[in-house]
Amino acid sequence: GEWTLGCFFTRLVQEELNWLEFCAERLVGAVERYVLVQQVRQQGKENKINQGQLITMEKMAAIGLLASGVAHEISNPAGYVRSNLGVLEGYLEDFRNAMERIEKLLGEKGTAELVGEWEKIKKDADIDAAIEDLGEIAAETKEGIERIITIASNLRTFARNGGKERKRFQVQKCIESSLTMVMYKYKSGIELVQDYRPVPDVLGNPAEVGQVLMNLMVNAAQAMNGSGIMTIRTRFEDDWVKASISDTGPGIPPELQEKIFEPLFTTKEPGQGTGLGLAISREIIERHGGKLTVDSTPGRGATFTIWLPPLAEEE
Ligand SMILES: Nc1ncnc2c1ncn2[C@@H]1O[C@H](COP(=O)(O)OP(=O)(O)O)[C@@H](O)[C@H]1O
Ligand SMILES: [Mg+2]
Repeated sequence: GEWTLGCFFTRLVQEELNWLEFCAERLVGAVERYVLVQQVRQQGKENKINQGQLITMEKMAAIGLLASGVAHEISNPAGYVRSNLGVLEGYLEDFRNAMERIEKLLGEKGTAELVGEWEKIKKDADIDAAIEDLGEIAAETKEGIERIITIASNLRTFARNGGKERKRFQVQKCIESSLTMVMYKYKSGIELVQDYRPVPDVLGNPAEVGQVLMNLMVNAAQAMNGSGIMTIRTRFEDDWVKASISDTGPGIPPELQEKIFEPLFTTKEPGQGTGLGLAISREIIERHGGKLTVDSTPGRGATFTIWLPPLAEEE
């Protein structure tokens, strides 16, 4: 077929975009898995493991090993995609400047015939449209690669802290920041009900508890498939700080209500779910001295509740 500059660049950038999307998906999975490995190590140290847990943990460790390898493999190409993109943008700018100079020159000194030829060349190669598109595509691609690099560096932070940092925090604050991140993606069609009552502070790692809340919110949003009501509550009952996420999705059949907490159990398409969210979440909450429970009547939605021990006023 006919070679055009616009076509060439667009295809080049589209390929990079596809590749970036692929990497982003893998990385998100890797982050979840990485957290699991940390938890397996922690549990191993604490040395109170039964046989069932051991099998589960071996499964987690194997996945984690794979994931950290994948994360490592990704950070290198992500780096050169970013730097190539910078170079590409520089060339684009040079190219634009050269075009402007040619136009100016033709405007001042060109014969009618030359100007006509030039217009034809531009039209054949669809150059004006290509130049317009390229700027946008480059900006989008840059945003994508920056996100990948941020996730990769978060992964390193996880590795350093290992979730050991503990402090006093408010569950409601944690809910609110998780919500911002989740609703950004799922806002359309989902009605949000926030029903917060005052609860005591808790002790732990707010980033980890935030991760649990996000898992539950994403699950709720996915279960409702774009339309329904998500209700978030905080309560202080029976000496427990409780935070619950309810949805109006299809609910969970009784025979699956324990199984959903197993690592790798998922009913979602690849790319939609890893089957690790609830396994990680339960691990995290149990490490905080709490529990994660589900209550669901099929056809009438599901409620997931985080129970955390309150921190006494004077502590
Ligand atoms: N709010 C919910 N409503 C219905 N089913 C749910 C809900 N949350 C979780 N599940 C079920 O539990 C499974 C495991 O969840 P999770 O561990 O988060 O993994 P993933 O979301 O990657 O599938 C899901 O695949 C789904 O079948
Ligand atoms: Mg999930």
